[in-house]
Parts: sequence; structure tokens; C-alpha cells
Amino acid sequence: MVGSRVQLTKAGREYKACCPFHSEKTASFWVSPEKQFYHCFGCGAHGTALRFLMEYDHMSFPEAIEDLAGRLGLTVPHEGGGGGPDPQNAPLYELMGRVTQFYAQTLAATARAGQYVAQRGLTAETMQRFALGYAPDAWDAVLSRFGARETDRRALAATGLIIERSGGRGEGHYDRFRDRIMFPIRDSRGRTIAFGGRVLDRGEPKYLNSPETALFHKGHELYGLYESRLAGGTLKRLVVVEGYMDVVRLHQAGITYAVATLGTSTTPDHLKRIFRLVREVVFAFDGDRAGRGAAWRALQHALPEAREGREIRFLFLPEGHDPDSLVGAEGRAAFEQRLDGALPLSEYLVRELSAEVDIAHADGRARLAEAARPLIGKVPAGVYRELLIARMAEVVGLPAERLEALWQDGMALPPPAAARAPLRPQHSAGRGSLVRQALARLVRFPGIAGTITDAERAELQNCTEAGAELLRGLLDDLRARPLQIAAQVIERWRDRPGGEHLGRLLEREAVLDDEAAAAVELQAALGKLVDLGVDQRLRALETQSRSRSLSEQELKEFQMLTSRKAIRNGKPVRR
Ligand code: CTP
Ligand code: MN
Repeated sequence: MVGSRVQLTKAGREYKACCPFHSEKTASFWVSPEKQFYHCFGCGAHGTALRFLMEYDHMSFPEAIEDLAGRLGLTVPHEGGGGGPDPQNAPLYELMGRVTQFYAQTLAATARAGQYVAQRGLTAETMQRFALGYAPDAWDAVLSRFGARETDRRALAATGLIIERSGGRGEGHYDRFRDRIMFPIRDSRGRTIAFGGRVLDRGEPKYLNSPETALFHKGHELYGLYESRLAGGTLKRLVVVEGYMDVVRLHQAGITYAVATLGTSTTPDHLKRIFRLVREVVFAFDGDRAGRGAAWRALQHALPEAREGREIRFLFLPEGHDPDSLVGAEGRAAFEQRLDGALPLSEYLVRELSAEVDIAHADGRARLAEAARPLIGKVPAGVYRELLIARMAEVVGLPAERLEALWQDGMALPPPAAARAPLRPQHSAGRGSLVRQALARLVRFPGIAGTITDAERAELQNCTEAGAELLRGLLDDLRARPLQIAAQVIERWRDRPGGEHLGRLLEREAVLDDEAAAAVELQAALGKLVDLGVDQRLRALETQSRSRSLSEQELKEFQMLTSRKAIRNGKPVRR
């Protein structure tokens, strides 16, 4: 049916085309005939055949139903209701409200604070909309005003506004926030549940946040969500940024759908809240290294919430900018244009994964498939996931069915062809202990860490060779957070134990220039290390068996190790 209106090409079980709902040059519109479903990774258009008729042919709902003769399957999203409030917390909310007012009044009355917010470009209207305030430069401003009685002080402490002096006799308290611009964090009903406070000039920490309290769970809350809902109009999308100032400045510029996580990365919990309100979210990150790291973490947390009908995209800002500075420099229209052009999750995933490997070569693509597997595994089963698999299969150059089958077999793909080849005699940097050989190759070509399977890694766990701990640490690090070049490894490990050792290794080892060979050599070295461990353990058990009888468990282990050794060709390993 869709095929009669759009030029479709077959891609495995699915079809793809240029999206009829937005203009594009490369096809990101996927159709699953089996599921009677379509999804565009570019603009997020999606739906059943029914919806297609309505959106593309502009049919009315009854017309479309008639056209399809009742074959439809739309699911109605739930408007989930949050759990009822704890009545015990009522006095705490009330207290937070009064303190919010107090801080706001203090801001109006303190010239130095007023100057700071003005210099940050905030208007009076913005300050009011966000109920911004100022915490006086005193140890007892809140304490003395709101903490007259013991019960008041208990309430203040419960909200995190005052802190108990340690070491004293439990008598003294002092204000948590002093000499800071205060950003009230409000719940969906507009009640202040926490604060973020920024220093006026220099000072540490730059931002101080309320602790977790009965009212405030930071992994759940989004700064600016209340204000976004309040902004009027229908919320269509949310943009997630990193800072308080970013939210405030974006709203002031007219982008009244900006929210921020509170010093944590985006949690699936955040995403659930977001998708209860809108179907489109754009993460905006700074273009620097920290921003890219944060984006990758956000992607990992977003995967369990990705599904058809939801659009998740990523925007990377130019280096040196955050949303606050960029919207100040460019204005609303340009910023929104960037938002419109943000990278769909699927494409960000493909881009990041293929940056790590050389997709021109078969083993590069195999590695990509291997790296994609755990990530795609996080996406709930459904049409979106299948289309994502189809997209990945396209990049890898395999039919989707085959890729899926390989993934399901547990052992994803045959390792790169080269890795199966017998170990070539090495004249390169082959000397030194096995651990050293492995480390040298990992540092030189960090990408090859991705060729090591979980099973291979697990076998190294009991290796007791000198340096094995560093090897395990480096391997785990590179498997979890892949790097491409040696300099990045040295940089990341500069201050870690063993880091200087890696630097020296890189300097001293003979030049290695063949990555595929290095991958083979790494696997060989790891295999030998494991064999070595097996041999050592067998010998130890043998020795023990001469002086005493082995326990039931030791016998089992002995059996397991010998059969394992037989499988691995039996030959004892020599260093
Ligand atoms: N943050 C925090 N604690 C810190 C530093 C940062 O909780 N010590 C959080 C705050 O939510 C802050 C966000 O991380 O808004 C981003 O921090 P940063 O980039 O350092 O600040 P900006 O938001 O750019 O703040 P400003 O423009 O005021 O310097
Ligand atoms: Mn900033």
C-alpha cells in the first residue's frame, strides 16, 4: 500500500525509500510489510498503514478506516499518573515555597547579585518565570528566619537547606547555600523541591545542589520541565541540555521546551517522563570531548526507551559553545534550525560505531556488527528495533536475517577472517612476556580490543602473570569505551595506575603498523596466557594430589581443565 505511493527499494525483509514526509537525499524511510508499519529515522514520521493514509493522502480518520477495511493496530499511549503525594511532606513543600520567595526577594534587594544576573543577560521577566533568587552571604540567613523552633530546624534539615555541624553536640546548624544565585527546581505542579546554587564569581564548587531528600530525587527530575509545560501552546518536543543557565537562556530566547538533567546523565527514568509528554527529544551537547562522552552515555540510556513513534536525536554544538552562549550568539531561529537538523539516534549510532572501525574492510564491518550487538540488544523488541537491525545490516553488508541470526547464536560473527588464520611467525615487536606483547598491541591499536569476546575476556580473569591486572584493566576500559589511536589511550591513562608503563611500552616497542596482524597477535597472546594459567593450575593440583587427596571440587576442576586443554589442542604452552 505504501509502495503504491513511494518509490521503495528492497532491503532484506524491509523496504526503504526517501521519506515522503520530509525532503532528504538519502533514504531513511523504512517500511516493514510484515508489520504493516513504517518509520522514518530522519524525521520520526511513523505509524501503521492507517496513519500513512491519513498523513500522506490527507484522508480523514473515517476515510482511512474505510480504505483499510478495519485493518489497523494503533496503540494509544498512556498518560501515566504519578503516585499520590506523601501527606507528611506537605509542610516541607510549604517551607520550600517560603524559602523560594525569600531568596527571590533577596535577589531583588542585593545589588551585587542583581548585577550578576543582568551581566548573564537575564531579564526581569525570566527571573520571575524561573523564580530565581539569591542566597545571602551568611551562615544563618535561612536558619534564623525559618528555623526558630526545633521542629522548624528539623524540617529545614530534611529539605537539605541547612546542614548540621559535625563534631559539635548536635546543636549547631548552618545554611547550605551562601552567596549564590539560586535556581529553584520545581516539580510538575510547580512546587519547589530542591535548589541549584551558582557562585557569583569564582569559587568552588561552581554549582551546589540540594541533596537527595524526601522531595527530591535527582535521577528523576528535569530542571525546566515545569516551566516548559507552563509556557503555553502544545509541547511537541523537548530539548535536553546540561546546565541551568542553558535552560533559562533558551527559554528566554523563545525556545521554551528546554530542560536539563541535574548533574547526572540522562536516565531511562528521565526518558520515560519525557515521552509521557512528547514524542520527540533532542539531546544537545557541547562539542568538546566531555560533551561527546555525555552524548554516548545518553544514547546508551536512551536505547531501552527507543521505539516506533518516538524520535530521539542528538545535536552537537560547535566547539567552545554551550546552548547558553550559542543561542546568545545566533538567536532562536538559527538554534532551532540546528535542532531540526539533529542526528537521529540510528545515524548517531552508526556514525559512532563506524568511526571506530574501517568499514571498507570485512573485518572492520564484522567488528562493527559485534560492537552494535549489545547496544541493539537494549532496544525493546518491536518494529523500531527491527528497522534498526535492518539499518545496521545495511552498513555491515549482510542481510538483516543473517545478522540477526548470528547475533542470536550468542557468538555474533565469525571473528575477522584474519583472526582465524594461524599465527604468523612474528619478527615485529614479538619479544617480551605475553602480557607485554598484548599490552603493546592494545596501546598501539586500541580498536582491536573490540575483537576480544566476553568469553575470551572472562578466561583471563584468573591469570596471575605479572601485569595481568593492568592488561585486564586496559582491555575492559577499551571494550567499554573504545578509542581509536594510541595517543588517546596514553592521555586517558595518564593518571591511572600503570599509565606511565603504557607510555613507555609505546615508546620502546618496535614499530607496529599492521592492525589486522596486531589483532591476530593479541588474540594469540591472550590465548597463550589462558593456556599458561591452565597449565599452572593443573601442575599445582597435581603437586597437591601427591601429598593429599583432592577434594570433590578440586577433582571437578581438574577434569574441567584437562578436557579444556584437550580441546585447545593439548600442547603445553611454553613462554
Ligand atoms: N553542575 C553541577 N555541579 C558542578 C558543576 C556543574 O551540578 N560543580 C551541573 C549544573 O547543573 C550545571 C551543569 O552541570 O548547570 C553544567 O555545568 P557547567 O557546564 O560547568 O556550567 P554552565 O551550565 O555552563 O554554567 P555557567 O554558564 O553558569 O558557567
Ligand atoms: Mn555556560
